[in-house]
Amino acid sequence: MKNLIAGNWKMNGSLSDAIKLTQDIVECIQESPQLLEKNDFLVCPPFHHLIPVQGELTAVVALGGQDCSPFDNGAYTGDVSAAMLKDSNAEYVILGHSERRTYYSESNLMVKQKAMMANESGLKTIICIGETEEEREAGKVEDVVGRQLAESLPETAAAENTVIAYEPVWAIGTGKSATPADIAAVHDFIRSELGQKIEEGADKIRILYGGSVKPSNAAEIFAVNNVNGALIGGASLKAEDFLGIARA
Ligand code: PGA
Repeated sequence: MKNLIAGNWKMNGSLSDAIKLTQDIVECIQESPQLLEKNDFLVCPPFHHLIPVQGELTAVVALGGQDCSPFDNGAYTGDVSAAMLKDSNAEYVILGHSERRTYYSESNLMVKQKAMMANESGLKTIICIGETEEEREAGKVEDVVGRQLAESLPETAAAENTVIAYEPVWAIGTGKSATPADIAAVHDFIRSELGQKIEEGADKIRILYGGSVKPSNAAEIFAVNNVNGALIGGASLKAEDFLGIARA
């Protein structure tokens, strides 16, 4: 399976920064088309940059949102529906990112409702799970990750529409990535849990690692069994670093 190299731009940059970054990414891929043999690319800009970014993208880079509403339509001020994302040509949506779980108290149930909406609207979900530092130190990684997975995945989840991102909270934006051995243990665990939860094709679901991925550590992370790509924050804001990770 190809690696998915996914950029989560978070709440960064102006419209002109987003356009420039998109143009740089497209140009880098055009200069190194061999990268497409082993990688699929995705960028997830802020909502209001989706359409202008889409205008600069070529078919080889997919577009995604960073969140969506758990509701389908109507009086939900500030929300953006999954159908609206789809209508903006998004193919993916990131759900349950630890920043949303932390700052907006998003529960597994909320993530599941959003994922159901996303699947019903024809979007693929990237469902984020991961433990905090305290939970890791208390030896609760499998408990936490197992529960998040069991409670966040909707009944609509299938091999074709679901990606899992394992992002240990303590590794996000800290420069402190998990070790290959830690990543291997959790990714193997997630793979086996998926096998219990999804009837067909659980082995085809991509499991991304996220948390301080950069060109200098990407090769060792991608060498880990059951790592099928990366969800990249900080390093996705520079085309050179984003593509440097794919080159690894
Ligand atoms: P980071 O963020 O690469 O900046 O650690 C990853 C993420 O939040 O998805």
